[in-house]
Amino acid sequence: MNAPLSGRDFLKLLDFTPEEITYLIDLSAELKAKKKAGEPHRYHEGKNIVLLFEKTSTRTRCSFEVGGMDLGMGVTYLEPSSSQMGKKESIEDTARVLSRMYDGIEYRGFEQEKVEILARYSSVPVWNGLTTEAHPTQMIADMLTIREHLGRLSGLNVTFFGDAQNNVANSLMVACAKLGINFNACGPEEQMPSPELVSTCQSIAAENGASIRLCSNAEEGARGANVLYTDIWVSMGEPDDIWAERIRLLEPYRITDELMALADPDAIFMHCLPSFHDTKTTVGAEIADKFGITEMEVSDSVFEGPQSVVFDEAENRMHTIKAVMHATLMDKE
Ligand code: CP
Ligand code: NVA
Repeated sequence: MNAPLSGRDFLKLLDFTPEEITYLIDLSAELKAKKKAGEPHRYHEGKNIVLLFEKTSTRTRCSFEVGGMDLGMGVTYLEPSSSQMGKKESIEDTARVLSRMYDGIEYRGFEQEKVEILARYSSVPVWNGLTTEAHPTQMIADMLTIREHLGRLSGLNVTFFGDAQNNVANSLMVACAKLGINFNACGPEEQMPSPELVSTCQSIAAENGASIRLCSNAEEGARGANVLYTDIWVSMGEPDDIWAERIRLLEPYRITDELMALADPDAIFMHCLPSFHDTKTTVGAEIADKFGITEMEVSDSVFEGPQSVVFDEAENRMHTIKAVMHATLMDKE
């Protein structure tokens, strides 16, 4: 393929073919090798990008900043509440203004519809850095990490435990369906992905020789899994008063040593991060005080244990976001 993604937006994985997703994973591996070898790759010298964040971030922001700088670009970060967008200027107008100054726009915020509108009105590529419904850049990093640790993707069994209706779970289900990975959403019925998305993913998975399943028994979800994945129980933008309900619903799905023992012996533990695996955060300490639990979606021993690949996954955010920017900004030859 010759610059197959040149000029494209990166809004959700459903917009991409399995070949295109694989191309991004391969390109990420290539850029990672160059970075490790100290080989410069300033392919976009003279270009500039802007990062619009309506929610907070560590990994995604730093990945766009470092990735952008490694590619030779100037980077502007607009933090939550420091731009006019939404309050004094519509998304449509913001898109047209920023497109006149920048070569690419990253957006993290609330409804998926917003990033879609931003892209529709923008004349430069728009990259989704997380919405309430999807977290597509996370998935390129996760797929690269799985491939690095397990040597392949197609045919593996991935189980997501806990809040299986959130952005990360949704995107993981799509990524698995596209790449022929069997996906299991393991959580309570109240927190399952939408039937529409499940049905879409089941059709895609069938084309790629894989299955999409829902299960509410944690032991069943762990048995034979190659990848055990979880995320926080309350996502950004959700109200604080749902913690009690979420803890009640999701405690049975905490990934513990006992669950890991049921999985494939070479299984890996994954988490997009940040994670509540101890009480060393303000929220973690408050929850411990209020509800008497010191770890939430994953036990501290699994998080810190030998099967955990969470920091490789975090590092890969940078290499893969760099690949998404490079692929969409490169000129067609
Ligand atoms: N995983 C992830 O998106 O992390 P941040 O919220 O820190 O960007
Ligand atoms: N589901 C989490 C992911 C954070 C990277 C959230 O939206 O807060």
